Amino acid sequence: MTNQTLGSTCNHGVCTWWKAYTFDNPIRKWVHPVPKVLGRYVGDGMTVMDVGCGMGHFSIGMAGLVGRTGKVIAIDMQQKMLDVMLKRAARAGVADRIVAHLCRADDLGIEKSADFILAFWMVHEVPDKQRFFDQLKTRLLDDGKILIAEPRMHVSAAEIEKTVEIARSSGLNCCEAPAIRLSRTALLTAK
Ligand SMILES: C[S@@+](CC[C@H](N)C(=O)[O-])C[C@H]1O[C@@H](n2cnc3c(N)ncnc32)[C@H](O)[C@@H]1O
Repeated sequence: MTNQTLGSTCNHGVCTWWKAYTFDNPIRKWVHPVPKVLGRYVGDGMTVMDVGCGMGHFSIGMAGLVGRTGKVIAIDMQQKMLDVMLKRAARAGVADRIVAHLCRADDLGIEKSADFILAFWMVHEVPDKQRFFDQLKTRLLDDGKILIAEPRMHVSAAEIEKTVEIARSSGLNCCEAPAIRLSRTALLTAK
């Protein structure tokens, strides 16, 4: 199977803003408490990316973890998601640590680099996964990590294995599959 073929496997529709309320609601902080899920990877002063940030559960949580000197680059292809994320960030008092960036489905369109990149419950929506991981790899600082988490109800074990295979052919290495509720995961580093 070619990388191009692999790069276009297991696509799902893009999550709409109204559908996002079904999982990104007040219960989420118990299901996915950000310090518990990401505290091992994100610390004071870091620059982190939240790709496919949606309404910002993880962007806002990571803004707390990076502190006043850190930065969160929150990226999404839907302006509505970024608008809700920024409103929530302002309410949480961390909007000044978050840079919102509107991307295209096939192009992140941002040249900044990060110590940590999160792609939570979004990779299955990306049309060209090979290009996606190529782009993530070039945006990862030395010794940086990428965490992908995919929803168990949509992504099978075989599908995430294919996704990891694509990431490998972009020059990434899967070092772990951390346990995260309702998710299949892969922690990636540069080879
Ligand atoms: C299921 S939601 C998850 C949102 C968020 N990561 C969370 O866990 O709450 C998927 C998000 O990924 C975004 N998305 C899908 N494909 C994308 C792409 N190719 N580039 C950037 N964002 C994308 C969607 O717009 C949506 O906001």
